[in-house]
This record gives sequence, structure tokens and C-alpha cells, in this order.
Amino acid sequence: MVLRVHLSVCLFVIVLMFSGMLGLERRGTKDPDLEETVQLTATEFEEMVELTATELEESAWDDTSRTSLLERDILNVHTLGERVSDWDDQRVAYAAKNVNSGSRHFDGKRRVNVMLVSGSQPMPCDKPKGDFFILKTLKNKVDYCSLHSIDIFYNMAQLNTRMQKFWSKLPLLHTLMLSHPDVEWFWWMDSDAFFTDMKFELPIEKYANYNMVVHGWYKDVYEDKNWVGLNTGSFLIRNCQWSLDLLDAWAPYGQSGKAQVAAGRLFANYLHGRLAFEGDDQSALVYLLISQRQKWAEKTFLESTYFLHGYWVILVDDFEKMMERYHPGLGDERWPFVTHFVGCKPCHGNYGSYPMDRCAKQMERAFNFADNQVLQTYGYVHPNLSTHSVEVDTPKATNVGREKVRG
Ligand SMILES: *[C@@H]1O[C@H](CO)[C@@H](O)[C@H](O)[C@H]1NC(C)=O
Repeated sequence: MVLRVHLSVCLFVIVLMFSGMLGLERRGTKDPDLEETVQLTATEFEEMVELTATELEESAWDDTSRTSLLERDILNVHTLGERVSDWDDQRVAYAAKNVNSGSRHFDGKRRVNVMLVSGSQPMPCDKPKGDFFILKTLKNKVDYCSLHSIDIFYNMAQLNTRMQKFWSKLPLLHTLMLSHPDVEWFWWMDSDAFFTDMKFELPIEKYANYNMVVHGWYKDVYEDKNWVGLNTGSFLIRNCQWSLDLLDAWAPYGQSGKAQVAAGRLFANYLHGRLAFEGDDQSALVYLLISQRQKWAEKTFLESTYFLHGYWVILVDDFEKMMERYHPGLGDERWPFVTHFVGCKPCHGNYGSYPMDRCAKQMERAFNFADNQVLQTYGYVHPNLSTHSVEVDTPKATNVGREKVRG
């Protein structure tokens, strides 16, 4: 008993350190979104958590039995619609029938089709300014996509009522895959992420042997089982059977209700640094990569050579230094490709892990930092990243230009 108390205190302290340091404690049970998501009353939810906790207490104190106890509650029903099992063949047949379709480079070679996918909630934000920031992140994404001839799909519809909030990307990607056999890669990006390097391009050839690309680190995921060892705020997933299978394996952990509660407990039990809040898509992916490693790990590339996702806190204070010393096109800490406002909730104000003032100020700076790379092609610049005002640019400035179209 003493050991157990010690252990939980230690874990609790570690968890606090982690969430404090990284600001990644995404939501506690006080989050007002929670009831809405699981569609239970607060009492029902408390009872459910209580019940699972009691079962855990009574179960043997070893990982295997705790894991299977929790896995039991994650209903293994298929939630993403009719199962497709011959998608690779269907895509080959589609390509054979449509040899002349699809976009091509100037030299006639078929272009690798990439579609950026993002989205936000169907209703207005609680905070009026939230919608303003969502508009800014959308403008930023439209700019990047038009500069690089990437398709974009922005979703505001609730496609699957059993998979909400951060889980809604799964049914969305599933639907888009089956509707766009011509698209090779889907690129999910959260609405709270900005492109901050308008020139950098995905090194897509590097991923020829992979079906998924996520920002993350091998050691953190596979050795440390850390739930922040990768980030699902910006990732690539290939349009193929493997990916449909992954989405099918991933989805059960995100079903509203008991499954999502059990998943949260399961991840808290299995992963390092994670509290027992409702099951989230990021923990679920880490969990799948570790627990079903033979199935998923080989085709999943953990990228860390540039910021496919960049944690805003370590980047935003250096924008001026970057502009002084470097230039767009680098994508790494010298000029981050993506700056992701993890832990900020522009739509819900101060419910995030960071005060909204700080988030808003830095989002404005990130937007202007990126927007300069667009405006400068038209001869204008935001001289001060903190304000929206612009002036005529002087010629010395960096120039992204439209000459660098994808390919
Ligand atoms: C940039 O604008 C902010 C907000 O108006 C202001 O506080 C700051 O002093 C300005 N910085 C410079 C270098 O002018």
C-alpha cells in the first residue's frame, strides 16, 4: 500500500512537471467540452470514471491485466462506415481508367497529389476573437496551398456524431480517401497551426516507403512510451488500404461515451506522463504504435529533421532573430515550417493550458511572420510582427515568390 501511494505520488509529480513544462495537459475533467463530447450527464460521467477506477483497484497490479480490463471496455465495433478491403486494387483500377487525369508538372510527369485537410467546429466560437483567429489560420493555409499547388479541404460539418472534437479528423480522412482515389497523400493540420515557412516543401520522395509521417522521436515513442513523443496536430497519411486499416484500428478509442473514458484510463495506465482524461487521438496512435508494433511501426515515419509540427512556446520569441539571420525554406528551428499552438484554445478562451492573452499575442505574431513572406511578393510588409499594419517593403527583404511552385 505504501509503495502504491509512493508510486502514485511520484507519477502525479512527474505528470505535473510534464504538463507544466510542456503545457500539454490538454484537458482535465473540469473542461466544459467534456460533458458535451461524451454526451453523458456529469453524474453519469463521474460514476463511470469511478466504476472503472474501482475495477482497476481490484484488479491485479500488473500491466497486462489492467490493460486487458480496459481494452474490454473499448467496444470493438466498426465506426467509420462500411469496411473496404480492396482499396489498393480499386485505386490501381481508377488510375488505369484515368491515365490523363490528375495534375502534371510542366515536363508532363504526374505530380504527387497532396490534399491539406483541416477544420473547425460547426458553431461559432465562445469567444468572438476565436473566429477571427480561425479565419487567420485558414488564410495562412490557403496561402501556403496556393503557393505550392496543394488542394485544400476545410471541414466544418460534424460527419460522425460518435467521433467529435479532435477525433473528427478520422471519419473525415476516411471519407476523403474513398472520395479522392487520385489523391496520394492527405495532410491533416489542426486549425491552431500556422505555416510559418511559406517556402519549405515536404520532402515527399523521402517517404516513398511509408504510409504515415508524424512529427516525433523514436526513443520517446518506443522506449519511453511518452504520449507527447509524437504530435498528431500535423501529419501525412497515404491514401491506401494500410491507412484505411489504421483508421479502423484507431477509431474505437475515440467513440463518445464509455469507450472514450476507458481509453483515457488505458492510456494513462500504459503511457508515460499522461493523466486519465478522456481518450485522445494522439495517445491512441502512440498506444497502437507500441502495442501493435508489427502492424503499424514499419510504415510510420517519425520526422524530426524539420518542424512538420513545431511547439509554439519554443519558437515564437525568436521570430525577429530568425528574420535577422536566416531565410524561409529551412523548415527547422532556424525558420520553422509549422508553428502549432498546442494548449491554446482560441475558440474557448482561457480553458486552454495557457492564458488567452499570451496565445492571442503570439498567434498574431506567427500570422504576421508568415504573412510577410506572402506580402513581400507584392511589395508590402508588416514591419512590426505584433500589429497588423503594413508598409511598402524595401527591396532587401526575403522574397518567397511564386517562382517556387511545387515540383
Ligand atoms: C510593436 O507593436 C507593439 C504593439 O503595438 C508595441 O508594443 C511595440 O513597442 C512595437 N515594437 C516596435 C519595435 O516598434
